[in-house]
Amino acid sequence: MKNFKYLLGILVLSILISCGNQEKKASKSAFETQSETSTQDTSVKVIEITANDAMQFNTSKIEVQAGDKVKIVLKHVGKMPKNVMGHNFVLLKKGVDLVKFGNKAATEKDSEYIPDDGDDVIAHTKLIGGGETAAVEFNAPESGSYDFLCSFPGHFAIMKGKFVVK
Ligand code: CO
Repeated sequence: MKNFKYLLGILVLSILISCGNQEKKASKSAFETQSETSTQDTSVKVIEITANDAMQFNTSKIEVQAGDKVKIVLKHVGKMPKNVMGHNFVLLKKGVDLVKFGNKAATEKDSEYIPDDGDDVIAHTKLIGGGETAAVEFNAPESGSYDFLCSFPGHFAIMKGKFVVK
């Protein structure tokens, strides 16, 4: 009887050990899958920003490296429609005056507040309302500091920031 208990003890112990090993294997393969996925994305630097019903971006500074391929993904996390609380992401060329551009853009309703000439803009997303997402992909310009904004009328006073290329 003593022997039987002893054997049972060994059996339980070996089951516990083998379960532990299985868990380790499982977590290792999950990690490997994850690192494979992230390796595939290194060619494009994806930057996710949000905008809300309180007329705010979640960031006022974006940093990239010169030569980066950049993808800005803008998520409107609010609920208000785009004709009331529309948001976009507009990146201005170096030296373009943000206030002048913002005032001009505010009059361009037909083109969703992106001036037709396009001379002042490096890249922009479309205008979106609550719950929507928009993205734009572009090559980072030369090193320096650039302004970004939402060009919906009245928003750029708060919805603006610096896009810094290192
Ligand atoms: Co806006």
